[in-house]
Amino acid sequence: MIQVKDNIYWLGLRDWDLRRFHGHELSTHRGSTYNTYLIRDEKTILVDTVWTPYKDEFLDLLEKEVGINNIDGIVINHNEPDHGGCLEALMDKIPNVPIYCSKKGVDIIKGHFHKDWNFVPVKTGDRINIGKTDMLFVEMTMIHWPDSMMTYLTESGVLLSNDAFGQHYCSKSIFMDEADECEVYQEAFKYYANILAPFTPLIRKKIAEVKALNLPIEVIAPSHGVIWRKNPMQIIEKYDLWADQYDEGFVTIVYDTMYNATKKMAEAIAKGLDNRGVPSKLYNSASSDVSDIITELFRSKGILLGSCTVNNSYLRSLSGIVDSIKGLKLKGKKGAAFGSYGWSGEAPKHLSEGLKDAGVNVEMEPAVCKYQPTPEDIEDYIRFGESFAEKLG
Ligand code: FEO
Repeated sequence: MIQVKDNIYWLGLRDWDLRRFHGHELSTHRGSTYNTYLIRDEKTILVDTVWTPYKDEFLDLLEKEVGINNIDGIVINHNEPDHGGCLEALMDKIPNVPIYCSKKGVDIIKGHFHKDWNFVPVKTGDRINIGKTDMLFVEMTMIHWPDSMMTYLTESGVLLSNDAFGQHYCSKSIFMDEADECEVYQEAFKYYANILAPFTPLIRKKIAEVKALNLPIEVIAPSHGVIWRKNPMQIIEKYDLWADQYDEGFVTIVYDTMYNATKKMAEAIAKGLDNRGVPSKLYNSASSDVSDIITELFRSKGILLGSCTVNNSYLRSLSGIVDSIKGLKLKGKKGAAFGSYGWSGEAPKHLSEGLKDAGVNVEMEPAVCKYQPTPEDIEDYIRFGESFAEKLG
């Protein structure tokens, strides 16, 4: 156990090896942690558990550090299996302790475990006294599951924020001020872009709501990655920024190619962008990490998708990208499509439609190339890049 503040302790597990999360959806290049917290007041309260595969290790840890029978209550801020995954194993040992969770949390826990435990549903503003401190609950509905909530400890000003403000990041220290700041922010941003981006409108409202509560927040302790102990508001300010049609002014060009014609187009378009002072990054979607591409798309002002045509559509590596852009519900991005073809040539048109369907502002007809580009074609694609740069404003 590591003391977070006063009588609040971190009791988590470091997963240095984790490389994929949410099944295989999300890459986690720097591992992750499953942070649970113990409040040792007149009552001993455990906040969240860890991912199911680690249940034996976690229960051993709990027994050694706390004594499972000494736990008086469990808060489940969110019941995705990386947090609620050990609940059944734990409740087998202490079946009568109360479980504090949101109303939706009750449904979800029942849906996962089919058990009717001693649930105490809580909602925003509810307080439960456990000695010197109250636990004050703030629902975070759909940030990012229906059950999500945060628990604020009134005596110490510690906000146990669950997934919000977290990062899939494993480090020796559990505190941001002792970790590599650059790495932490890379992972916090990737986490936001890949997991929280679709809920951006709710996040803006929630941040305003939390600020209006006027809670003195001294520490933000999420359920993954490092704890924000020094200047904890820094990550709230970042969320405020990221939730406001965020971009860093560059263009991400994502393409797939069979015989390099589309790749040559991508490079010519990038040259055109460069001619107008707009930086760009190129990713081959077949060989790049999709979670990293999504992170880049979130930061981009412009999105260009390219593919040659195969079987009347685009190459399959673009399918996941188009679907992801739609799912992320990105706002304020401009986009266009391009691609080579041999005879039918539907890919750029379908990419363009995919971008529009995803809410990206597409103001240019796709650039196309039959077979391989000529030097004159390359000049056209450079001009295409220049025109796109001008549309970015
Ligand atoms: Fe960390 Fe939504 O689970």
